[in-house]
Formats: sequence, C-alpha cells, structure tokens
Amino acid sequence: MRISNFTDFLSESESKSKTILILIAMNDEALPAIKSLGLSPLPKQGKMPFMLYGGEHQGKKIVLMTSGKDAKYNVDNVGTQVASSMATVGIQQFSPDIVINAGTAGAFSEAKSTIGSVYIGSIIKYHDRRIPIPGFEEYGKGDYESVNIPESVKNLFPQAVVSTGNSLDITDAERKSMAELAKKGPIVKEMEAAAIAQVCSWNETPLLVLKSVTDIIDGSEQTADEFQKNLQIASGALQDALLKVIGKI
Ligand code: ADE
Repeated sequence: MRISNFTDFLSESESKSKTILILIAMNDEALPAIKSLGLSPLPKQGKMPFMLYGGEHQGKKIVLMTSGKDAKYNVDNVGTQVASSMATVGIQQFSPDIVINAGTAGAFSEAKSTIGSVYIGSIIKYHDRRIPIPGFEEYGKGDYESVNIPESVKNLFPQAVVSTGNSLDITDAERKSMAELAKKGPIVKEMEAAAIAQVCSWNETPLLVLKSVTDIIDGSEQTADEFQKNLQIASGALQDALLKVIGKI
C-alpha cells in the first residue's frame, strides 16, 4: 500500500482489516523490520519525537513507531517514560487491535539463552521500582501479562519473564534476584515492556511482547560492548520473528 498522506492512512486504518501497532525503541532495532515489512515513513505528528512507518502486510494494517532521537543528546530515546508516551500516542491515534512491543534484551546463560534467542513475554514486570509501603510495593513491581494472544502465536517462540527497568547495567541485588528466576526458566531484562503493558492494560488493548537477546548478563563480556556488538544479529532475529507473528495474527 502506498501512503500519500497521513489522513489517508488514518481513514484506511478505520477499515475492516486488523491494525497492528508495533512499538520499538531504537531505530537500529527497527530497521530490518521496516525493510522486510515494506513500510513507508509517515509524517511526524506534532512535537513528539516518535517516528512513524506504515503499510500493509498480508492484509493487515501495520503501524510501526520508534521512539525517535533526543534532540538535546542526539541519541535514540529509550526507557519507560518515552515508551509509555509512545504507547499512549499510538493507541489513541490508531486504535490498534493489538500492540506488539518488539525489542532487544539481556538474558541469562543459566536459562540457556543465547545471542539472537527470541522470546514471547509471559509475565511482564518492573525490577527497579522499589516502594516499600503497603500496597505500593506490589504496584511498583507491577505484574502484567500478554492478554488475548492466540495460542498459535504464543507457541511460536519460547516464553520468558520480561523484567523492565531504566538501566542497561544491573545492580548486585537485581542480578541476584534475576539469576534465581533464571534457574526456573528464561528471563529477559529490557527497558520498555512493563511501561507499555501498563498503558495497554488501561486501554484494554492486547499486547504481545517479543524480545531478542543481545547480551548475556551472567556471561563474561561487558554489557554495553556486547549489546552494541550483537545489535544487528538480534535485530535481524527480531525481524524474522515479527514476520512469523504477524502471519499468525
Ligand atoms: N537491552 C538489551 N540488553 C539489555 C540489558 N542487558 N538491559 C536492559 N536493556 C537491554
């Protein structure tokens, strides 16, 4: 589908076919998917930094948003604040049938994760919101699930607990509690999913979290170096996974 202007695309989105909103934080994570889904840039809306791409794939409307660049620091926007704003704008603008949060993550060799492994989120929670006041404690940790996702999609990839925080590095306490969980099964550490899950739950919009591994947290390499070294491999794996998932929705 060629998109000549934004208004056309919006009214197209009101037609019968399903609308899938894909939220990806970084440009480099999104590029392979934008290319293989054949998406075209859409004009930027208002003053928010988000970048928009749209198109049609297998009869489904696809809108892909990335967080855009921070004008002051000239790096991609990442983390929960930007992710929840992007989810809010995207859901209000496009009323998607489903949101997919796709991105990269760290994982544990203890749980047999390797670079480029792809997971579907099972439980999605925060690991760095500590509020030791009754009631707020559980709220801080959060506990969201991918809801209303067909079994045929859930079964495409192994499931992992998705743990969200605002740092690429990890504290000793976070490492210890995630390593405990990794003994029971895959767990991935990233920076957006729980914030997006929170917004999706307010809007009663189904969410699928899809994460591909760039770094092994219990390995020997420095996370930042390992992340940058493997970003392309993991983003390629993410693109393959997105195509499979979209095919089943
Ligand atoms: N994204 C990719 N790897 C990550 C990690 N180790 N922590 C947080 N976000 C990530």
